[in-house]
Amino acid sequence: MNKSATKPGTTLAPNLATKPTDRLVVEDLHLQYGDNPILKGVSMTLNPGEVVALLGASGSGKTTLLRSVAGLEQPSRGKIAIGGSMLFDSAAGIDMPVEKRNLGLVFQSYALWPHRTVFENVAYGLRLRDIPASEIEQRVTQALTNLGLGELAQRLPHQLSGGQQQRVAIARALVYNPPVVLMDEPLSNLDAKLREEARAWLRELIVRLHISALVVTHDQTEAMAMSDKILLLNFGKIEQQGTPEEMYNRPQTQFTAEFMGSNNHLPGKVAQVAEGRALLAGDGWRLWGAAHGPLAVGDAATGIIRLERTRIASGAGADCVKAELVTGMFLGDRKENLFKLGDLRLRCYGSVPGGSGECFLELPPEDLWVFPGNAAL
Ligand SMILES: Nc1ncnc2c1ncn2[C@@H]1O[C@H](COP(=O)(O)OP(=O)(O)OP(=O)(O)O)[C@@H](O)[C@H]1O
Ligand SMILES: [Mg+2]
Repeated sequence: MNKSATKPGTTLAPNLATKPTDRLVVEDLHLQYGDNPILKGVSMTLNPGEVVALLGASGSGKTTLLRSVAGLEQPSRGKIAIGGSMLFDSAAGIDMPVEKRNLGLVFQSYALWPHRTVFENVAYGLRLRDIPASEIEQRVTQALTNLGLGELAQRLPHQLSGGQQQRVAIARALVYNPPVVLMDEPLSNLDAKLREEARAWLRELIVRLHISALVVTHDQTEAMAMSDKILLLNFGKIEQQGTPEEMYNRPQTQFTAEFMGSNNHLPGKVAQVAEGRALLAGDGWRLWGAAHGPLAVGDAATGIIRLERTRIASGAGADCVKAELVTGMFLGDRKENLFKLGDLRLRCYGSVPGGSGECFLELPPEDLWVFPGNAAL
């Protein structure tokens, strides 16, 4: 027990010191509902003190993967282990029950007991485990203090704001000192402004307490802000995994490129290929880009460029297209403009010289990623 933690109201030492062996490993996990395959061979690792974001579109299998790790779903194949203990192994017939897995769970709905105080909500699980009252007092106080809830211990959930309820749900998950915390869309009940603040706050908490967490989100900005590693799911398969920087700046597939940012799309045909570059041509435009995948002259291909990499040029030049301004939108910290060029619609931040008419947009070749095919993803 951490003695420094007995004095309420002080800044407490991390209560989640994970052991080096507490690595979560998921291997080739398959799961189906009826005949419908949902997870199609997912493998991943969560190292101690690391936060992995499970990112993906609605229905891609994020919650199913999280629930499988928690023991709330039974996969048909694969393995799940934490440190030396095997939680699930289909081949060996191992399926450890939820309560034995000892993981911290935070659900989207928070699921707080409405007639129990904040203190009792957090203490409840410990009471079920026959932990002595003095230790419960100390551990709950520590968890509440860590989450800035010390003053609210005697309130009922309906006397709290949404953000405070969310903190109680997290405190309840942390009070067991679990090796891994599983969070399913922990911020989705909050409005946009609060969500942004909570994101920074949750990241700070995770770093301060050295928590290992698997966090589900469908919001790429949230995933990048909170995690050390992102795992992007696409219909039950991992499309790509990596650090937020890798996922954002070096996508291996068009799907990842599309998912990780706001982009311009340029469907066209390959007119020339040279040294890892491709010249992409469409109606009234020709642009060089970086080839991402096998491309040959005559192939259909799609150019993807981040909005912030698309620039308004002062005049004609290489890597430029001439486009007509359709409208501008004031976004507070910047202005976003919509241009048209034949069937193409291009968006770009910045001020348009003269404020109207035709304009040159620069799409630097190193920032224009050319992927095979014209599929709209
Ligand atoms: N109990 C169930 N029975 C049958 N199909 C299910 C069940 N639960 C989920 N599914 C299906 O499994 C797929 C994956 O669902 P899951 O809840 O894992 O998606 P998700 O990525 O968490 O999506 P969201 O972002 O909308 O929460 C979906 O097609 C869903 O309809
Ligand atoms: Mg879900």
